[in-house]
Amino acid sequence: MNFINEQWAETAMTWEYAAAASPDLVDIPIQVFPSQLHEEGETRIIGLDLSEIIGTPYSATTPNLMANYLRICQNDKIQTVVQASSEVFFVMRGKGRTETDSGTLTWQPGDAFTLPINRGMTHYAQEDAALFWVHDAPLLQYLGAIPATPRFEPIYYSKSYLDREITRVREASIRENRNRNGVILGNPASEKNRTMTHTMWSLYNLLPKGAMQKPHRHNSVAIDLAVYAESGTYTLIGKEIDSQGNIINPVKAEWKPNTVFVTPPGLWHSHHNHSNSDAYVFPVQDAGIQIYMRTLDIQFVK
Ligand SMILES: [Fe+2]
Repeated sequence: MNFINEQWAETAMTWEYAAAASPDLVDIPIQVFPSQLHEEGETRIIGLDLSEIIGTPYSATTPNLMANYLRICQNDKIQTVVQASSEVFFVMRGKGRTETDSGTLTWQPGDAFTLPINRGMTHYAQEDAALFWVHDAPLLQYLGAIPATPRFEPIYYSKSYLDREITRVREASIRENRNRNGVILGNPASEKNRTMTHTMWSLYNLLPKGAMQKPHRHNSVAIDLAVYAESGTYTLIGKEIDSQGNIINPVKAEWKPNTVFVTPPGLWHSHHNHSNSDAYVFPVQDAGIQIYMRTLDIQFVK
């Protein structure tokens, strides 16, 4: 018999509890990825990769998610293939179509679509196009897992559908003077957790002109796409709030159209619109898995 006790004992180790209970991991940075990244050059995938900062051996924007810009020149195409359990695409610019195993989807600016595990797809641009693409491959790479079973059916959310939904919510928000004018994208398979997919969460959020959405915080990371905003629209982000509910020494992330910024987990953030136009943001978060784990811990300043 081949006894392996000694061999397995060789690398056994322990850490003293009090010293090791809060390991000193690098914070996820507040990071901006300007729209210029997808406005020039040839057709390509532009990874919004923070792996060198957060210390993952694979591409990642946050520990669980990888965000990308897809730039597709007019009449050109690009393939996307990834080992992920959830993917979301948001069309920032241009018209085109995506060919998948189950058929062809046409799209235009403001459309979004989600897919579970799949064998890849090819995106064709009828005119100069840019898509925002987020998937959960980093989570699977951390687990050493390959997705095997689709957890939901693909969904197409057209811009006209999302606008209709937000109009419906907005009328009620104005009546009740709510802090939020947004709709969480849904999927029948996520009915219980109310998330876009089982791992990812997204909100189509309207920040009306002149509005301020007070600070809130949550344990999910947000990868925020500013869909539309005029100058004077921004998010303030910081670690602490004062007794008045204002964020202390905040970092300001401007909402520039088709620009992405990362809001780290646990930090307070408030949205401000001092412009004369309504603004829209499309945050993608790992809140699907956080809600499932009961660890999202979202808190609002009253
Ligand atoms: Fe948030």
